Amino acid sequence: MEKKKVIYSAMQPSGVPTLGNYLGALRNWTNLQEEYNCVFGVANMHAITVRQDPQDLRKRTKDIMALFLALGLDPEKNIIYVQSDVKAHAEIAWILNCFTYMGELNRMTQFKDKSQKHSDNINAGLYTYPVLMAGDILLYQSDLVPVGADQKQHLEICRDIAGRFNGVYGDVFKIPEPYIPKVGARIMGLQNPEKKMSKSESENQNNIIYIFEEPNVIRNKIKRAVTDSGSEVYYSEDKPGISNLLNIYSSVTGKSIEEAVKEFSGVGYGEFKLAVADAVVDTLAPIQQRYKEYSSDKAYIEKVMKEGAEKASYIAEKTLNKVKKKIGYPIYK
Ligand code: TYM
Repeated sequence: MEKKKVIYSAMQPSGVPTLGNYLGALRNWTNLQEEYNCVFGVANMHAITVRQDPQDLRKRTKDIMALFLALGLDPEKNIIYVQSDVKAHAEIAWILNCFTYMGELNRMTQFKDKSQKHSDNINAGLYTYPVLMAGDILLYQSDLVPVGADQKQHLEICRDIAGRFNGVYGDVFKIPEPYIPKVGARIMGLQNPEKKMSKSESENQNNIIYIFEEPNVIRNKIKRAVTDSGSEVYYSEDKPGISNLLNIYSSVTGKSIEEAVKEFSGVGYGEFKLAVADAVVDTLAPIQQRYKEYSSDKAYIEKVMKEGAEKASYIAEKTLNKVKKKIGYPIYK
C-alpha cells in the first residue's frame, strides 16, 4: 500500500443492513475506492458487545461480505475482511485501553443508548467499544474514515487516543479524519423520524427500509411513512418526516435538497412519496441483483474472506509491531 491515501471503514453484522447504512456510509465507500487504498471490515468483534445467536452471526458476517461485493467493492483493489480474522485487532485494543480515560468513555452517547437498550447486559466490551474501533482505524494508518453522523463521536475519541499515544512515543499513528456526507449522514426512521434508522431495531419494521427488501415492500413502507401536518413539501426542522424523505430522495438521486424542493413544489405528499419510493427502488435494484449472485457463491465469499484476512493482517501487524516496540514489549530478532 504505497502513496495513495488510506480509507478505513467497517460495518457490524448485527442486523440486516438498512438504507441508512447505505446512504450514510456504504455508498461513499464505492465512490472512494478508485482514489484511495481502501480497507473495509465486517466488525464482528464489535457485534458481540450485544448478545448474538452464533449461527446468525456467522451467516450475517458472510452476508455483509456478499453485500460488499454486490456494492462493487473490488477485492483485488481493496482489502475486504472480517475483523476477528485479524488478531492484531484484539491486541491493539488492549494496548489502547491503557491510553483511554474512563471519563472519555463515559461521554459516549452510543454507550449510554445501548446500555439503556440492553440493561441486562451492560458489559465491559460495550463500554470500551470505541477503543476497539480506534484500533481498527489506527492499525491501517488510515487518513479518512467514511461513516454516518452517528459515528462522529467515536472518530473524535479515536483522534484523541492516537494523539495521546503519539504525544508519548512520537509519530506512530496517522491521525484520521472523518468523512461524513453532507446529505444522507443521518437517515431517520420512517415511523419515528426523531430517531435514526437502525438495523438493530426490531420493534417496528415499518420504520426501516432494508437494502435487500422487495420493491413492493419498500413502496408500501414509504407510502406509510409518517408525514407532518400541512401539505407542502419543504425542508424544515418542524417537518422531520418530510425532511427525512427529502434527504433520502436527494441522497439517492444526487439532486440537492433545494432542487428536490423545487421539483415537488405544488405536489402533494402522496405523489412526493411515490417519487421517493421509485428513486429508492431504482437505486437498490442493481445491488439486490448482484447480491443474489454473490451470496449464492459461498466458496468465492470464503476465498475473499481468507485472502482479505491475510492482506489485512500483514498491514495491521506492521503497525502493531511498531507499537509493541514503542511501549517496551520484548523484541525478538
Ligand atoms: P454500523 O454497523 O452501526 O453502521 C455502519 C455504517 O452505517 C452508518 N449508519 C447510518 N448512516 C446514516 N443514517 C443512518 N440511519 C445510519 N445508521 C448507520 C454508520 O454511521 C456506519 O458508518 N462502530 C461502527 C462499525 C465500525 C467502524 C470501525 C466504522 C467498527 N470499526 C472503524 C468505522 C471505522 C458501527 O457500528 O457501524
